[in-house]
Amino acid sequence: MQEELLQIKNSAMYFIMDAKNPKELEEIKLDFLGRSGKLTLIMKELAKLPMDKRVEIGRLANEVKNAIEDALQTAEDSFSQKKIDKISRIDISEPGILPTLGHLHLVTQAIDEIAQIFARIGFERVRYPEVEWDYFAFEALNFPKNHPARDDWETFFTTETPHARYGPQVLTPHTSNGQIREMVKNVLPIKMLNIAKTYRRQSDISHTLMFHQFETLCVSENISIADLKGTLAYFAKSYFGEKRKTRIRPYHFQFTEPSFEVDISCGLCNGKGCKFCKEGWLELGGAGMVHPNVLKEVGINPKKYAGFASGFGVERVLMMREDMHIDDLRLLYANKLEFLQQF
Ligand code: DAH
Repeated sequence: MQEELLQIKNSAMYFIMDAKNPKELEEIKLDFLGRSGKLTLIMKELAKLPMDKRVEIGRLANEVKNAIEDALQTAEDSFSQKKIDKISRIDISEPGILPTLGHLHLVTQAIDEIAQIFARIGFERVRYPEVEWDYFAFEALNFPKNHPARDDWETFFTTETPHARYGPQVLTPHTSNGQIREMVKNVLPIKMLNIAKTYRRQSDISHTLMFHQFETLCVSENISIADLKGTLAYFAKSYFGEKRKTRIRPYHFQFTEPSFEVDISCGLCNGKGCKFCKEGWLELGGAGMVHPNVLKEVGINPKKYAGFASGFGVERVLMMREDMHIDDLRLLYANKLEFLQQF
């Protein structure tokens, strides 16, 4: 019986090692350990042995059983491991699939660049509500009640109930509300750059209902038009190139006195005059010295402090760059990948 047991063990081991798949292992298990398996039958015989033999052979039979069970288990484990290996195997030499890389929108790139240019001379970027009360967008900026910008031809009004003190609610028609929001904090000096979305009821090849403006405001003692001119010249050279010049022309805005329009020399003809610019200059945006009425409104003493401000369109300066040839502003927001991927 001893020999028989050892033989069973050997043949079981042989079959287990030779098994090709879990199914074969299952069959081997039945064949040896099943209810009428080879080992099981022998174990049943044990009862017939005399007591002294029974103990000795019994121990051997148990050892054989354990050995077969262990071997079966190890083989089973290795099959399931192979399965996992097959699933998670990574061939690092295989060429990868290049993911499509996106990039920032052209206008966002321009905003970042403008913010960096002004940051270098100490202008801090701020953000204020783009759904705003009339008071901050018009009233406090010295707009008379009947000013055309305040009717709903130019400006979007929301259906919100008007504020008891601040009046109707509007979508910011310009970034100048940032001037008031900044000054009412009453922390001087101020050097702010407000870049935000602006909304006006105009849509054609050079206008979109939503566009962006960047607004500077600098309030301190001893601020003069020279500071305004220097800041504008610095911006124009940084953004458009060293060769570009700026000039200011008298103009009118409600919230500045004096007020100016700012021009930049044409990059195509270098200021000589061409078909594109006509007289050598292109209009950049508005600027001026903060109106004393505005300073008074926000509780800043106009005898002690002065300020300059400017407000330009982001899309406009972007389109005026020499290397840009965008002939319809609406393309910027048409979500056409063919267009956007060029930049
Ligand atoms: N808010 C004006 C506009 O949208 C632009 C402007 C003019 C801003 C003069 C200013 C300024 O800060 O001083 O047309």
